[in-house]
Amino acid sequence: MRAPVAVVILAAGKGTRMRSAQPKVLQPLAGRSLLSHVLDTALALGPEQVHVVYGHGGQEVAAAHADYPVHWVEQPEQLGTGHAVACALPQIPDDHRVLVLYGDVPLVTPATLEPLVDGHGLELLAARVPDSTGYGRVIRDAAGGVVAIVEEKDADPGQRGVDEINTGLMAAPAADLRRWMAALSADNAQGEYYLTDAVAAAVADGVPVLARFTADPGEASGINDLVQLAEVEQAYQRREARRLLRGGLRLVAPERFTLRGQVRFGTDCAIDPDCTLEGEVALGDNVHIAQGTVLRDCVVEDGARLGPYTVIEQARIGPGCRIGPFAHLRPGTVLEEGARVGNFVETKAARLGPGAKANHLTYVGDAEVGARANLGAGTITCNYDGARKHRTRIGDDAFIGSGSQLVAPVQVGDRATIGAGTTLTSDAPADALTVARSRARTIPGWQHPGLTGRRGPPDDSDATPASDGAKEE
Ligand code: UD1
Ligand code: MG
Repeated sequence: MRAPVAVVILAAGKGTRMRSAQPKVLQPLAGRSLLSHVLDTALALGPEQVHVVYGHGGQEVAAAHADYPVHWVEQPEQLGTGHAVACALPQIPDDHRVLVLYGDVPLVTPATLEPLVDGHGLELLAARVPDSTGYGRVIRDAAGGVVAIVEEKDADPGQRGVDEINTGLMAAPAADLRRWMAALSADNAQGEYYLTDAVAAAVADGVPVLARFTADPGEASGINDLVQLAEVEQAYQRREARRLLRGGLRLVAPERFTLRGQVRFGTDCAIDPDCTLEGEVALGDNVHIAQGTVLRDCVVEDGARLGPYTVIEQARIGPGCRIGPFAHLRPGTVLEEGARVGNFVETKAARLGPGAKANHLTYVGDAEVGARANLGAGTITCNYDGARKHRTRIGDDAFIGSGSQLVAPVQVGDRATIGAGTTLTSDAPADALTVARSRARTIPGWQHPGLTGRRGPPDDSDATPASDGAKEE
């Protein structure tokens, strides 16, 4: 039977090398904090307790993760990883197995940690890396048993040559850890209490020590600066892209795809390069998303086509809809089956009925648009009077002529036609043409001030410099 598990996440480091005002573990990876990734991994292991050790003044770390069922432990001074673990130990019962994770090592997976949690004695996660600079080295005896971890600054040249490194993540029984941490000394090159000294202590106590290897050393990558953050982001995105490809989501250029949340999808969906999916996104079957499109918290149903450079937030796109290129669908937009929203169209809190169209240069806000209604180019719902928002209702099969403004609250009846250029300030009845447009008049012989002195229709010579040679810009 598995011992109860307490996870201790070390997150007190200041992260000076990030050169940011934010605590390091609040830096974003795939759109959310580094720490949230580690917390999710910790919770996936089903532990009895999770403790997060945060630094002095780091209350904002706790505030940013208030929804997580964890204990927050302040480490007022960063005296080393051993001291950080010791800060959490008073809350952990002796019969628990303690797993130590780092808040700045976000890619490690539950599958990699499971054996450490299920193991006995002291188990640490090791890796072989091409460049071991900066890491603690795993030191073995002639028989191959692990006998110590030596930090780089304390290592002799022979030890420095070892390419087996300590990732820092380890598990051990709480009772043993308590004894070892109480006996730590800071008599070393950094003057710190090293968690890693637990290894030599375990060996001295006859407690078995095992170093396990990660299948993918990239999982143990830590983040100290923005270069490493960018590399880990890239590794995360490539990993997610591979997972989606294997699951049947066609990413045309997987190295140019960004996921900042979760995506569910049906069969035969395809996503072109440079698209970003954020929050919760659900795609039906046969959804095609063209280059440069951003989707945040939305549902896109079967057969919909999203044109290039379209931005959609908190919206529902019905089956067979055609959107974009260059459309902006804001929160509360609902498009029913086969609706079309074209280029330079913005929608907000708007429902477009089945087959409705707004194809060019249009704003539809706080509006209901009936089935098959057609909004001509440049239609604007004037939804805001400077104080309050008002709704516009457009009936089924209505036709709104180009360049019309619908001053809300206002209604257009079923099958109504609004003449082009109308500013509609009162309801337009069904089955009729409503037009509010002053008649054009012509004033014969009127001269444009810029054309004074010239007679007759403009000809090509108007485009050339004036005859006195002065240049016009
Ligand atoms: C540590 C390990 C080293 C390992 C390396 C892997 C020790 C002594 N050394 O070294 O063997 O190869 O990680 O990256 O453990 N932290 C606190 N409080 C403290 C000190 C640190 O919470 O007082 C946290 C940091 O925020 C960080 C983690 O512990 O998340 C590791 O600390 P860091 O200073 O980066 O340890 P390293 O010197 O890299
Ligand atoms: Mg480190």
